[in-house]
Amino acid sequence: MRVGDSHVRSIWLEQDGWSLSAIDQRRLPHDFVVARLTTCDAAADAIRSMLVRGAPLIGATAAYGMALAMRADASNAALDQAHKALMATRPTAINLKWALDAMRSMLRPLPASERMAAAYSRAGEMAEQDIAINKGIGRHGLGLIEAVAAIKKPGERVNVLTHCNAGWLATVDWGTATAPIYLAHDRGVVVHVWVDETRPRNQGASLTAWELGHHGVPHTVVPDNTGGHLMQHGMVDLVITGTDRVSAQGDVCNKIGTYLKALAAHDNGVPFYVALPSPTIDFNVNDGIREIPIEQRGPDEVTHMTGRTADGRIETVRIVPDGSPVANYAFDVTPARLVTGLITERGVLRADRAALAAAFPERIAAAAE
Ligand code: MRU
Repeated sequence: MRVGDSHVRSIWLEQDGWSLSAIDQRRLPHDFVVARLTTCDAAADAIRSMLVRGAPLIGATAAYGMALAMRADASNAALDQAHKALMATRPTAINLKWALDAMRSMLRPLPASERMAAAYSRAGEMAEQDIAINKGIGRHGLGLIEAVAAIKKPGERVNVLTHCNAGWLATVDWGTATAPIYLAHDRGVVVHVWVDETRPRNQGASLTAWELGHHGVPHTVVPDNTGGHLMQHGMVDLVITGTDRVSAQGDVCNKIGTYLKALAAHDNGVPFYVALPSPTIDFNVNDGIREIPIEQRGPDEVTHMTGRTADGRIETVRIVPDGSPVANYAFDVTPARLVTGLITERGVLRADRAALAAAFPERIAAAAE
């Protein structure tokens, strides 16, 4: 997607054919810094430290991490060790396990001499597949935005609210929740995005606002608690969020605070859509609330905030009294009954087992193996 006059992806293979570059998302929106990843450990660190983040991008980075591991040592032991190290980075986004399991089961039967080339090739395919999927999500979600523009509000702007960053930075390109928005904007639909700031890490304020701004999409950053008020006053036409894991019965795990937006949307009759690529569905989990592991992150994300001072310095300051304990649950689960529809690469689906199973029978079969 666009950064100034350039087209960039969130992660890419360098000209040397083996090392990776990724945008360091910890430095946005103040500095555009590209990090070079040359080892499996560096890929794991990038995921753990959230240099890269967002479920699909975590999966893509992990796949390339396996390729870097195979470049260093293509033995069975190294294969298992790379899988284990990458798997331990973040627990909630199922795209990580999906990508690692796919890589390991493809590599395992191969002779060690063929593993490195095969790993790079499959990781590259996964990255391209992510982009193709997101374009599909964009085409299907576009119809929802166009319908509001044509039927409910002809001649007026369509207001979409989103939470966290499910934009191109969270994927290889295009994003999930943002793909329909970018397509609508590019086709001349007047679309405006309410961007939840998304405490504690501010992925909305720092990342979504940054990428929408570079693409020229009108947007307004709001504190996380504002959504209910906007919905009560008819200022939100639809909500579109991303997700880190969708259970077989359609429960949606996403960045902490998503559930509260779904409740407010339900109370105000605002459609609540979730955009997801099929690797985000976990057919091994049924009850999302009870079965999906919720990552708990360090207290510093809550006790401190980082920003740019008026004279251009990046500074981190404490905002919580010394000694006050804090809790930092990174995700929550929205039950399927609050979800109007799931925007996938195969269409907009009901959030239930039958609809997911009918659309993705091959994933059900793979989960049963
Ligand atoms: O903790 P993060 O920044 O990795 O969380 C990201 C989200 O919750 C996104 O909404 C989700 O991964 C979907 S990204 C297309």
